[in-house]
Amino acid sequence: MRQKMKISHLKYLVCPECEGELYIESIKKQDKDRVTTGGLVCKSCEITYPIERSIPRFVTTDNYADNFGLQWNLHHDTQHDKFSGISESNMRFFEETLWAKNLSGQTILEAGCGSGRFTHEAASTNAMVISFDYSSAVDANYKANGNKDNVLIIQADIFKSPLRNYFFDKAFCFGVLQHTPNPYAAFRSFMSKVKKDGEVAIDIYKKNALGRFLSFTPAPPTKYYVRPLTTRMAPEKLYQSVVNYINFMWPLSRWIGKIPFVGRNINWLFLVADHRNLGLDDSRAKQWAYLNTFDMLSPKYDYPQRLKTIKKWFSGPEFAKHEVNYGFNGIVARGKLSTP
Ligand SMILES: C[S@@+](CC[C@H](N)C(=O)[O-])C[C@H]1O[C@@H](n2cnc3c(N)ncnc32)[C@H](O)[C@@H]1O
Ligand SMILES: [Zn+2]
Repeated sequence: MRQKMKISHLKYLVCPECEGELYIESIKKQDKDRVTTGGLVCKSCEITYPIERSIPRFVTTDNYADNFGLQWNLHHDTQHDKFSGISESNMRFFEETLWAKNLSGQTILEAGCGSGRFTHEAASTNAMVISFDYSSAVDANYKANGNKDNVLIIQADIFKSPLRNYFFDKAFCFGVLQHTPNPYAAFRSFMSKVKKDGEVAIDIYKKNALGRFLSFTPAPPTKYYVRPLTTRMAPEKLYQSVVNYINFMWPLSRWIGKIPFVGRNINWLFLVADHRNLGLDDSRAKQWAYLNTFDMLSPKYDYPQRLKTIKKWFSGPEFAKHEVNYGFNGIVARGKLSTP
């Protein structure tokens, strides 16, 4: 049976408006200590936040991340290792964070969870994982991870999240910050949730000295020429166009991909998100192409960052140590906060 939001999970949440304590009221459906439908009310300012389909919702349903809601609900399992047959998510999670396999007793925050492929990996450590996303992707994550006792999924905004400050032992945020209107402010807001001597890990698209023009995956320069058009299209319409385009290009891209050294980059320049190198079978590689081509063209915000910028983010005295390198999604950065 699926787990619902547990009343005991309330201890992780506060009112995003005033940081007041929350209590549960107007429970319409409940199963023992679990709430499926109801409301969370702030004891101080009395704002009510709905719990719908077992997920506390702290944002309005229509927002700039609707495209992500569509893509992650359509592709709710495409990138999960269990479905893809490769261990990409597991490898990325542990290689980017360098965290231990057993984190029992710790709390992990995940910002911008999408369909929850990394939520699954974080939960495998036995830590308590609080995972949020701005979009309805949380419903996809709930499908994958809602049945785990050590996972709480909420719909919230990284700039105004209902989470306690300086609370979490660890926090990670993969592939999200460049898709917010202000990546640095989003990073600061995310960081404020981590306790002193806690650890954070992020990844973000890279921009190098030649601007956006020397990177191919996952941000080929050509996408910035089409985005002014595609970001204005209704997500459903754009998704259908992407499917038609990939269906047309797929046989051709197989041949182009075989050109030594440059083949895959050419495919990405043609906006075919070619992940055949990961060892996916052909039909799964095509699903990844639908997903990631749409992911290139649909987000309202797309602000890749320079390596030196991310180094600056991590270089302040609040970090006892940090490491910032190129890798995976562009740039991978980790830091351990100083002790109080
Ligand atoms: C490219 S997806 C990455 C999802 C997941 N981390 C992964 O790597 O599979 C970016 C995610 O960031 C979320 N996002 C964008 N702006 C956000 C915000 N202000 N607060 C929380 N999540 C946000 C989007 O809804 C989307 O699901
Ligand atoms: Zn309040």
